[in-house]
Amino acid sequence: MTNTLSEADGNVGQDECDWLLSRATAGFGSVVTSGLASSAVGRNWVGQAGIYDDRFLPGLSQLASARAPGTVLIAQLLHCGLRSPASSIGQTPLGPSDGPGWRALTQAEVELTVEDYVTAAERAMRAGFDGVEIHAAHGYLPAQFLSRVENTRNDKWGGDFERRSAFPLELVARVRKALPDDAVVQLRLSAEDMRQSRGIDLDETVEVARRAADLGADAVSLSVWNIRLPSQKHPRSTPAAYVRARLTDRIPLIVAGSIWDAADARFAFDEGADQLGIGRMAIFNRDAPQGLRDDAWSPARPPFSVQQFGDAGVPEKFVDYLRGKWPEYLA
Ligand SMILES: Cc1cc2nc3c(=O)[nH]c(=O)nc-3n(C[C@H](O)[C@H](O)[C@H](O)COP(=O)(O)O)c2cc1C
Repeated sequence: MTNTLSEADGNVGQDECDWLLSRATAGFGSVVTSGLASSAVGRNWVGQAGIYDDRFLPGLSQLASARAPGTVLIAQLLHCGLRSPASSIGQTPLGPSDGPGWRALTQAEVELTVEDYVTAAERAMRAGFDGVEIHAAHGYLPAQFLSRVENTRNDKWGGDFERRSAFPLELVARVRKALPDDAVVQLRLSAEDMRQSRGIDLDETVEVARRAADLGADAVSLSVWNIRLPSQKHPRSTPAAYVRARLTDRIPLIVAGSIWDAADARFAFDEGADQLGIGRMAIFNRDAPQGLRDDAWSPARPPFSVQQFGDAGVPEKFVDYLRGKWPEYLA
């Protein structure tokens, strides 16, 4: 999860390595890094690590070694597209289509952006990660292409569902082809609109997940923010159950969204999750994986004082970021 602990120049910082290590050794099956910028123009916050250049390799290698034996460590590839702040990237942000404050990628730029993902994925393997996650959720570039409202192109990358889904699926196909068979390639999708996601349709999410499986993705990571909420489009089902029922058993479904304790974990499994994605709970609880196995365990829940964050081992810079973007976590 994004923590802004890396250097301003995009190098992975010691603080980010120490933070990942403090959580990655807790006993998780797999750990995904914070979103690493796959293109310079897709960067977001100051303190985000980059994976778009070989100069980042020493830091990335250090990050890739922040693990316990047996834990699969996955680099998340992130391009923020139209949501990259102009102040961070020093130019007009690029999205699928023109909009207020950003402009559409040309066809040639789309091809170059795909290339950037492929070389970033190869770089992740050179750094020693076990694989990559393509972040196509939360309204970032691949989700912008998929979006019914943010993608108004009328070329091979936009129009009907086939063409709006072409960009995220091209990323899966090309990255899969470029990496060894035993490297993990997973795709993160928002189930439906929530927070930054715009124009995401549950049935289209299912179809993208199915096609990603056919293209050789190893897992789909579904972001729902709260596993207990019914689908907006099909309210008789949760998004997780809806997607799971329509995917082949071949592809594992990771589901993340407000899993805090053993009852939530059971609920998520009952809804069809094959793996649980744990975010916020693990920021505040060092013993998250053990706790989730124990019915009697009760996690620490925000809001927290600065002192409590410190006691939980959360670095000050991360607390500052939370204060700005997620003020509800601070007492
Ligand atoms: C501080 C913070 C940073 C996050 N950073 C990322 C990120 O870099 N990549 C990503 O895919 N999701 C990110 N998310 C979303 C989480 O991965 C997760 O989907 C969401 O928080 C819901 O799961 P949870 O209830 O277990 O936290 C972030 C969430 C928070 C609160």
